[in-house]
Amino acid sequence: MKVTISRKAHFNAAHRLFVKSWDDTKNESIFGKCANPHYHGHNYELIVSVTGEIDPETGYVMDMKVLKDLIKSEVEDAFDHKNLNLQVPDFFDLNPTAENISVVIYNKLVKHLDKDKTIEVVLYETPRNFVKYSG
Ligand code: NI
Repeated sequence: MKVTISRKAHFNAAHRLFVKSWDDTKNESIFGKCANPHYHGHNYELIVSVTGEIDPETGYVMDMKVLKDLIKSEVEDAFDHKNLNLQVPDFFDLNPTAENISVVIYNKLVKHLDKDKTIEVVLYETPRNFVKYSG
């Protein structure tokens, strides 16, 4: 019997979306306000879900405290109040779109989880725009 548990988290970060080989006009035509050379911020909302069997002894799929601490150390401490383009090495050569951020978060978290569990990352860049990645 597989059950999914989820934990919500939050971070604020600045970014700029652009392709280095394009000029400002083309970047602005594709990425709009997100191409602003002076950067801008988003209030990112994150939902991490872990699916697995219930441990018969504890009754847990996974200890929520462990998941909470993992999200804090791997994501919040790395991204919160940072400029993603300039301060987070994962994005030095990767456009920090919500799509790419969700894949980076997934990869940071999945390596700490037992192999018999699967995870899904949902990342809201705005209240209306969100992306989902599950490997
Ligand atoms: Ni943006």
